[in-house]
Amino acid sequence: MRDGYCAGKTETSGKIETSSAQAPPMIELSNVSKEFMVGGKPLSALRNLNLAVASGEFVSIIGQSGCGKTTLLRMIAGLEQPSEGLIKVEGKVVKGPSRDRGLVFQEPRLFPWATVAHNIKLGLPDRGRNQERLWALLRLVGLEDFADAYPRELSGGMAQRAALARALAGSPQILLLDEPLGALDAVTRLKMQAQLMRIWQESFLTVAAVTHDLDEAVLLSTRIVVLSPRPGTIKGVISVDLPYPRDRTAGDFNIYRQQLLDILEQS
Ligand SMILES: Nc1ncnc2c1ncn2[C@@H]1O[C@H](COP(=O)(O)OP(=O)(O)OP(=O)(O)O)[C@@H](O)[C@H]1O
Ligand SMILES: [Mg+2]
Repeated sequence: MRDGYCAGKTETSGKIETSSAQAPPMIELSNVSKEFMVGGKPLSALRNLNLAVASGEFVSIIGQSGCGKTTLLRMIAGLEQPSEGLIKVEGKVVKGPSRDRGLVFQEPRLFPWATVAHNIKLGLPDRGRNQERLWALLRLVGLEDFADAYPRELSGGMAQRAALARALAGSPQILLLDEPLGALDAVTRLKMQAQLMRIWQESFLTVAAVTHDLDEAVLLSTRIVVLSPRPGTIKGVISVDLPYPRDRTAGDFNIYRQQLLDILEQS
């Protein structure tokens, strides 16, 4: 259904680009900056970000450690406020968290006192009275045999998958993923990339995903945002103009990978 998706062009200026004349973008960053106080001194984490993400896009965010990727996702989720600028979702300023925006943290953050099923139920609007939905989510992330397990009994990758199911439980419009596949072995990672692709395509989600894996970014994304080292600024936005499903061995795939490396090396 997303075969041939084409976002159209490569930008390097970070200018706002609105893809639909009528509807506001699903996510819009306008002159967003974030400062923290660290050890009594101001620290600039992100500076002057401008970006518009259309409904249904899969945007990956890449950049060096400490450049503000997690901070950016936390602000879109409503867990942090920008120091300057505005973040809007469907035209409304983000003032706090909402079930419409599911966030999978860099570390899984499951409730240790609750089983996998219970953790997921906490994300369901009806607290899991709809058992069918609970089991669909468990199957989706391949944890149906671990419904009664506690987080301490899971591997790191299994915990990440449980966290993904919990984020999906609220049927969000926007899925924010902070290196969700970081702790997975190569084979499980490939399987989860395929699952993510399927979830994105079937649920008409808008995804913003942080990753350090350039292949993963090219494989999944409609666009890739490259941030400079701290303070993070937008160094480039690459539209990946390849049909889905993508072939990692294709020549074009390598061209995108090289383009990303070039921007990262320049920054
Ligand atoms: N709550 C906080 N209080 C103070 N400083 C913070 C806070 N959160 C983040 N920072 C600072 O903001 C900067 C960006 O941090 P952030 O976690 O967003 O980076 P990142 O790009 O996600 O890094 P990584 O790839 O290592 O996860 C860092 O310098 C960090 O010290
Ligand atoms: Mg981070």
